[in-house]
Amino acid sequence: MNFISSKEIRESFLKFFESKNHTIVPSSPVVPFEDQTLLFANAGMNQFKDVFLGLGTREYKRAADTQKCIRAGGKHNDLEEVGVDGYHHTFFEMLGNWSFGDYYKKEAIAWAWELLTEVWKLPKDRLWATVYKSDEEALNLWKTETDINHSHILKFGEKDNFWEMGETGPCGPCSEIHVDLTDNGCKPEDVNAGLEDVIEIWNLVFIQYNRDEKGELHPLPMKHVDTGMGLERVVRVLNKKKSNYDTDLFTPILNEIGKITGKKYEGEYVSPFNAIADHIRALTFAISDGAIPSNEGRGYVLRRILRRALRLARKLDYNEPILHELVDTVVTNFGGVFPEIRDKKDFVKNVIKAEEDSFNLTLDRGIEHFQNVYERIKNNSDKVFPGEDAFKLYDTYGFPVDLTQVMARENGFEVDMKKFDEEMKKQKDRARAARKDEVILADTKMFELDEKLKAENPVYNPYNLSEKGIKTTLLQAKRIAGSDLEVLVLKDNPFYSESGGQVSDTGKLVFADGYELEVIDVKNNHFIYVKNYDHRNLFRKEVNAFVDYKRRRAIQRNHSATHLLHEALREVLGNHVKQMGSLVSDEYLRFDFPHFKKLSAEEIRKIEEIVNDKISGDIKVDTLEDLPLEEANSIPNVKKFFGDKYGSRVRIVRMDENFSAEFCGGTHVASTGDIGLFKIVKEESISSGVRRIFARTGEGIIRLIEERFSDMENIVSELPEKYSSKFNEALEKIRDGVKSADYTDASMMKLMLQHQSNTIKSLNEIREKYIEEKKQQQKKMLKQNIGRHIEQIKSIIDSSETVNGSTVAAGRLDIQTSDEFKEIGDEIRKALKNGVALFAAVIDGKINLVCAVSDNLIKEKGLSAGKLISETAKELGGGGGGRPQFATAGARNIEGIDEALTHFVTKIKNQI
Ligand code: ALA
Repeated sequence: MNFISSKEIRESFLKFFESKNHTIVPSSPVVPFEDQTLLFANAGMNQFKDVFLGLGTREYKRAADTQKCIRAGGKHNDLEEVGVDGYHHTFFEMLGNWSFGDYYKKEAIAWAWELLTEVWKLPKDRLWATVYKSDEEALNLWKTETDINHSHILKFGEKDNFWEMGETGPCGPCSEIHVDLTDNGCKPEDVNAGLEDVIEIWNLVFIQYNRDEKGELHPLPMKHVDTGMGLERVVRVLNKKKSNYDTDLFTPILNEIGKITGKKYEGEYVSPFNAIADHIRALTFAISDGAIPSNEGRGYVLRRILRRALRLARKLDYNEPILHELVDTVVTNFGGVFPEIRDKKDFVKNVIKAEEDSFNLTLDRGIEHFQNVYERIKNNSDKVFPGEDAFKLYDTYGFPVDLTQVMARENGFEVDMKKFDEEMKKQKDRARAARKDEVILADTKMFELDEKLKAENPVYNPYNLSEKGIKTTLLQAKRIAGSDLEVLVLKDNPFYSESGGQVSDTGKLVFADGYELEVIDVKNNHFIYVKNYDHRNLFRKEVNAFVDYKRRRAIQRNHSATHLLHEALREVLGNHVKQMGSLVSDEYLRFDFPHFKKLSAEEIRKIEEIVNDKISGDIKVDTLEDLPLEEANSIPNVKKFFGDKYGSRVRIVRMDENFSAEFCGGTHVASTGDIGLFKIVKEESISSGVRRIFARTGEGIIRLIEERFSDMENIVSELPEKYSSKFNEALEKIRDGVKSADYTDASMMKLMLQHQSNTIKSLNEIREKYIEEKKQQQKKMLKQNIGRHIEQIKSIIDSSETVNGSTVAAGRLDIQTSDEFKEIGDEIRKALKNGVALFAAVIDGKINLVCAVSDNLIKEKGLSAGKLISETAKELGGGGGGRPQFATAGARNIEGIDEALTHFVTKIKNQI
């Protein structure tokens, strides 16, 4: 067969399954934000996990797609394989077809065989099939449904023929198809032996179990088919190439690497070229889908991939940032199939460039740490570079161990890799333990309706907010073990249940006899949390459910404002802005998005202006309920969310035609005018390349004014009268304003905020002036006081006895602060000239001592201030010391001061 492009192969796969009545679906994002058990999409079936587990449904029973996958962490990790052989990747496309409780093993096997041998015309004698050791059914189907050579059907155990997506989740026995690319034909023992030329290309999984956190298998309600075929491998096989890298999926990138580094690619299996080309694909796709290199979780995996690629670039003698320069080539080659990478191109480049720059810094720091370790060990005769240090370099400094090895060898040392591996294993165990915790947290079992309740068909409808409450019936009440919380289920639930960033409603339940319960939280649509339920016989009784109306309306204002903000950000900053997370509460809204720079005051002003224009336009908010997915997708500029899975019918919230249209299950204002005013109160960075905005609306603006007001009052109360008096009037004005504030009067609110900003600005100026003034005053005071102390010191010295021509002075000083005490040392030496002096001062209830000795006495009489002061301090229950010329000490026994000073004088007299 001649050259056949990857594009044709991808298309012919999808066409084939379309002809078998499969619905062609888009790939899910490679970053599964929703699934805590998974770092990256590692198989096509991920997006259908809920269907396999019986928790979700789709409109179709058969599907096929090409799925973006990354296997670089967690259960499926091929990172270390990449660049070492020609057929493992971090990022790859998985072609897959699925049956959800529809066809099973027979069709899966027959169609796989048909596509490979009839459509793609692979030689039948070069194909091998493997089945799970006890799966006689699959084994027989290979014999009856295909014309495969029967001796080419082999049995394998768990490791090769039982497929699982992770530690937990759907799984089952599988049947794999391997292809023999050797020159002379392979033997049965070559299958699954890790040979370059005998490789698996297609895996047919017969999903029938769920593995739980305890590792136990539970049969699923239905049986499913999940298949996966690596596109890179098929392209290689159909083009008869030795390596996946020798295909049009990689050659443009390899060429570009050659161009940048000036090195020649020789078409090797093992090559930095290959790994770099692989890694830049993984980075481009993952970052486009919203992952960001960081120090934990999936961000850490990305960081490792990026660093590995950079290290390998150094092997090509290229030390500059190179990866961001390859993004264009990836986008050119894959942007047609995956438009998201085209949209995010500039953003991806920025993120990668920043990481590359910082890794270069890391390398510098690592080299420095290496030098420190080396200084410590260089004279050791065993010439071993400790494994613990190599691990620390790796773990703390991100310094690759092979680099440590190279540098150690350059100095005649070997890294203790055994110890390094031990440390690594400990680290991995810790990571595994941490992963387990996540799984438990994500377990939502306790929030599932039991069969009985499902049959009662309770309704979740938080969309028709009514001040009068909703009359309904109590269906169930269950205590949460070890708490005073009760979980109730109502026939009709009007309380919004936390989702999409919007917090849960609170409110109250009122029974016919007046008994009231406070609703404090809601989970998974139906589960209403109350406190102190007294277990009277309320079951099946009528109840009136009141959502905290005022709070909900505040939440709605923030939610609708979030949608407007989202679009305003895109207008002002660019269309790389996409919601990465949000919180919508009654008090404020919070919005996270990728962006590289701090927002300027001008940008913030523009964003506020756009949002406030939409608010003052008082635009009706449209909600399109139950829209077919396809129709929703065709709305221009419609916003969907990272990792969100959508059913076949969705809800869209739309404002001002298509200014803002989002997939959204939240609750909103009826018309934008109700938002009142929108104000950004804070903008910050939460990790590299991710910004966070806090904003307030409606009554939240009044709260904001009140909060600022009390901050202002605090400042004013710290100022002396002469400054504060002129503010009283301004504050009074604001206070009155707040009292009569009406959040719907946007221009009034704006005016008040403006007035407040001005006042705060002048207040801060005044405060600074006042602080500076105070500082100057203190300085002046210190100088004055020290002048006084010097007088006192001089006068004590002048009136002291002279023995053999030397002064022996001792006395108490009237010093109140240790700052002043510190300043007097030099003065004592200056005043003393020839002699010994000891002074004491009581500061904050403690004795401070200072002693000075003139140089002649040190030389001639062997006196030492340090020694003398330590003796006196000891007499007073303290300690201290210092140089022969000068020393200080502290002590506690204040009553003993005078006696100690007298004793000091007598003692010195005897010594000189
Ligand atoms: N989910 C199966 C795999 O990834 C098809 O191999």
